[in-house]
Amino acid sequence: MPYQFIIADKHGKVGLITLNRPQQLNALCDALIDELGAALAAFEADETVGSMVITGSPKAFAAGADITAMKDWSYMDVYQPDYLGPNWARIRNCRKPVIAAVAGYALGGGCELAMSCDMIFAADTAKFGQPEIKLGVLPGAGGTQRLPRAIGKAKAMDMCLTARMMDAKEAEQAGLVARVIAADQLIEETLAAAETIAGYSLPVIMMIKEAINRAYEMPLGEGLLYERRVFQAAFALADRKEGMAAFVEKRQPAFKNR
Ligand code: CAA
Repeated sequence: MPYQFIIADKHGKVGLITLNRPQQLNALCDALIDELGAALAAFEADETVGSMVITGSPKAFAAGADITAMKDWSYMDVYQPDYLGPNWARIRNCRKPVIAAVAGYALGGGCELAMSCDMIFAADTAKFGQPEIKLGVLPGAGGTQRLPRAIGKAKAMDMCLTARMMDAKEAEQAGLVARVIAADQLIEETLAAAETIAGYSLPVIMMIKEAINRAYEMPLGEGLLYERRVFQAAFALADRKEGMAAFVEKRQPAFKNR
């Protein structure tokens, strides 16, 4: 499908979305987020796709929401259409796993977009930050909520109140990032991980994502009960039977996503 601000293509069982506004360091205008939502929805609907990757350019994953577009907006210009609401929710509501492959700047909405994904693989060039305070505004696409959950209150306060950037090494140590990868290997290694995920049973992949996300919504007792019930439900899957039979028979499983 032709897009103006992104490139979407398939690599094996992985849907790869590349943010493509290089002149603006992938500033996240609404049209880009709309296209991103549409591409994710298309990959969600595609039975041959098991996981997705969102990436940017070597210089910038995304330098935030589009400041040029926003600069003259009034309160009603953002409140009435619920700016940063419905189209951003399409990323969060994705049921297949999404990995952010981040090189260069992931600032403001760019950091928030990366955090909306299920995990972040960072190039050693990555720089994360929530510099909205310098613009007289605050993070609006999840920064004040996801950052403390990922890296704790102290570092989240530091990032949002001082606007300093965090490099890939610190981000990994703090728990924001799953892996740090040499910049020239970022896409290859991220696609390989996404392909590994997509090789497993799709309903089980989705159950795991859903269960881990419950950990952020539920008290522990409810979360443990939820996990156990979904584990038990997995026994209704042909793929569960196949996975265990393959282990016992010392062969590779042939999952059918059923
Ligand atoms: N919106 C619109 N345009 C942007 C942009 C943004 N967020 N970030 C960069 N650009 C544009 C610049 O205006 C510039 O355009 P021109 O060539 O037409 O002048 C081009 O991208 C290249 O940028 P720089 O010349 O500034 O590049 P640099 O290498 O000197 O600096 C940078 C890179 C440190 C990332 C710097 O561009 C910067 O600080 N960008 C803004 C970061 C920011 O404040 N992000 C938060 C936005 S608000 C937000 O995201 C709210 C939210 O929670 C959703």
